[in-house]
This record gives sequence, structure tokens and C-alpha cells, in this order.
Amino acid sequence: MLCQVCSVFFFIVLIPEFANISVCMKDPERVQDIIVSMQKAGSNTLQVIADFDMTLTRFAYNGKRCPTCHNILDNSLLIDDECKKELKDLLNTYYPIEIDSSRPVEEKLPLMVEWWTKAHELLIEQRIRKDDLAKVVSQSEAKLREGYGFFFDHLHEHSIPLLIFSAGIGDILEEVIRQAGVFHSNVNVFSNYMDFDELGVLHGFKGELIHVYNKREGAMLNTGHFRELRARPNVLLLGDSLGDLSMADGVQDMENILKIGFLNDKVEDRRQFYLDSFDIVLVKDETLDVPNAIIRYLTGTK
Ligand code: TMP
Ligand code: MG
Repeated sequence: MLCQVCSVFFFIVLIPEFANISVCMKDPERVQDIIVSMQKAGSNTLQVIADFDMTLTRFAYNGKRCPTCHNILDNSLLIDDECKKELKDLLNTYYPIEIDSSRPVEEKLPLMVEWWTKAHELLIEQRIRKDDLAKVVSQSEAKLREGYGFFFDHLHEHSIPLLIFSAGIGDILEEVIRQAGVFHSNVNVFSNYMDFDELGVLHGFKGELIHVYNKREGAMLNTGHFRELRARPNVLLLGDSLGDLSMADGVQDMENILKIGFLNDKVEDRRQFYLDSFDIVLVKDETLDVPNAIIRYLTGTK
């Protein structure tokens, strides 16, 4: 057991990215202990669980907000102007609630269901065609975080399963990673998938709704996935919302979990909540440099 100063030093020698200005930790010693035990257990015991919007994708680029899966559709030519306005009004009403740290999650739950339900009803009215999704994504401003190539490719090369657990839209996020050339065979996705009729027109969404604060329930519906991965009790979790903390609740016989949180917005209001909840907090960091450095260390890659 090392003192805090030694812990920080130890880290910076082994993982220089921990010296990045964006990196904050409440308890560096604990982080060190987790990483050391995960490294000892070996990368064949590791699985990665990541949120998508604003975690694997950028929050902002050149000072401009980047789109979520929903925004990719909302801003596209597939949506008429009146519907665009209604979707924007929903975003302006409910997003501040989503990130408001002064309101308890129980109070937010029905409001998030309301947001997702209203937004999905509006999208269904637009008679979106499956065949148009690839074009919409290619014309969008969606951007994976810098370092995404290493992240996806390295996990694939080391056969480390990556679960993308998103309250966005599965069809859209799959298209984003497909077009980036990183939709490898080790990737699984839990998300809201569109349901198309026999003519390929959107007429609903499949399965139980996943919103930003019910990922625990989503995880519990997928026990089969976690059973298959029960030989991988070490988890690297990446998220940008406090709701993402429950993404690993379905993991069986968990041994270690390292939680990395991207704090993108309302930084000062939320800093303490994030420090109390995530092991490592990355403040206004648009890259995957820190998760990549940890993965490099855990896989013994120089
Ligand atoms: P995720 O980060 O779990 O993938 O969550 C999805 C994000 O999508 C969440 O931060 C809210 C956002 N969202 C929109 O931008 N527009 C919408 O219409 C809805 C329902 C959600
Ligand atoms: Mg997110």
C-alpha cells in the first residue's frame, strides 16, 4: 500500500496519461489497487462496457455541440420543420432535467420516460425509411472521440468483449461505428432498436425502452449476455451520466470494476457527484486517451 503522493507517482510512471490536466480522482490509491488487480488477473478476464452518446462520441467539436443518436435523425432531411421544432422543444425541456444534480433520480424517472416516449412518437410520425439511415449518418456531424481507432481495434485484437449500452438508437449508433470501420465482431449493443414494417418504414421501437436512468433494468433483461461472459469478472466501465453507473449491474461474480466518467457539461455543479461516483473523472476531455492508456497497460502493450 503506497501513500497518495507515491500512488500518483506510480501511476504517472506506468500510465503517463494520468498526468493529463483533465484527470481527476477522489482516491488514487483505490484506482491503483483496482488497476493492479485487473492487470494481475490478465486481459482474458476483462470486459468493457461503454455508453455511446457523449462517451464514445464527442460532446463538442470546435466549440459546437456534437449530435446524439437522436439528434442525428432530428437534424436530418428526413424530419419536417414542424417536427424538428417539436423535438428541439423536448430537448430544451428535458435535457436540463436529465443533468440537473439538484433533483433526485426518482423524480427524473417518469420525466425521462415522457421525453423518450414523446420523441419516439414524433419520429414514428415521420415515416422514416430504413434505407435512408446510412445516408443520414454519413451526412451528420457525429464524431467518435479521438483515439476511437485504437480503442475499438485494440479490444478486438485482444478478443476483449465490448458492450455498448445506449439509451440512444441502436440502428443509428451501429451505422456510426460501421461507417468508422470499427464495428468488429467483439462488439455487442444494448439499445433502442427501430422496428420497420414490410415496406421498410419505421412503425415502432422494439423491446423495452432504455432511457438514461433505467440501464439497470436493461442489464437485468440481458442475463444471457452476462452469463456468457462470466469468465470475465473484471470490468472497465465508461460513461458520461450517473445513470451509466448501473450498466454493469448484470455482470456475474464481478471481481473488479473501474468506472471512468466523462464530465462534459455543467462541470462545477456536478464535479463532486462525479468524483464520488466514478473512480476516474475526465473533465472536458474529448479524447479516449486515458481509457486507451489503461487498456494498453492491462493488455501489456508498450
Ligand atoms: P446515452 O448516452 O445513454 O446513449 O443516452 C442518450 C442521450 O440521448 C441522452 O443524453 C439524452 C439524449 N437524447 C436526445 O438527444 N434526444 C432525444 O430525443 C432523446 C430522447 C434523448
Ligand atoms: Mg451518454
